[in-house]
Amino acid sequence: METRIDEIADRIFRISTYVPEGDFTFNQFLVNADEPLLFHTGFRSMFPLVSDAIATVTPVDSVRWITFGHVEGDECGSMNEWLAAAPNATVAHGAVGCMVQVNELADRAPRPLGNGEVMDLGSHRVRNIDTPHVPHGWDAHVLFEETTGTLFCGDLFTATGKHEVTTDADVVEPGLAAETIFGATALTPTTVPTMRALAGLDTRTLALMHGPAFTGDCAKAMNALADGYEQMFRVAG
Ligand SMILES: [Fe+2]
Ligand SMILES: [Fe+2]
Repeated sequence: METRIDEIADRIFRISTYVPEGDFTFNQFLVNADEPLLFHTGFRSMFPLVSDAIATVTPVDSVRWITFGHVEGDECGSMNEWLAAAPNATVAHGAVGCMVQVNELADRAPRPLGNGEVMDLGSHRVRNIDTPHVPHGWDAHVLFEETTGTLFCGDLFTATGKHEVTTDADVVEPGLAAETIFGATALTPTTVPTMRALAGLDTRTLALMHGPAFTGDCAKAMNALADGYEQMFRVAG
């Protein structure tokens, strides 16, 4: 397995590992701000790969904030390895997620984020947007980096395979195809309205956890994915 790191927006880096056995890609993101923030830690078993890649950009112990979309092995499996490696780091997660998950799981107390709260990282500003059960998990949330218009949208648009670092090609069809395989998204009456609200953000880059970084028409893509989910929800109903 090989892990690469690429800058996808101003001081925003995509760390990417393709796992051939599963034909699946796992991405983490580093906002290398004055206060560096990590979105997704990766699996615990991938900590050496991910931390070595990040060390080429910033010292591992400079990481100040550890964040992830929801509690799951690939999202936050090495949370405690990161807390040990970066003594000044704090986990920041949605308030509900801290209450029901992270308070118990993390080796240090997390910082609970309110819905809409902005973390001022100096050079960058990251807004917390709670998205309960979208794509899955009561604690689910996304982060929007305001200075670059980067939406860390986690598992939304999850696709199989190996990907370009960035693309403006279609990410909706691959996302819907993978959804029919995995059924990973919680399709509820709030799924589509939540995604339409995300489509209203002024997003210039969609930072996919399992796919490329999408630099095309982000609002259109988010609405098209919502259309697909709406159809699936209707069929399931
Ligand atoms: Fe997930
Ligand atoms: Fe994931």
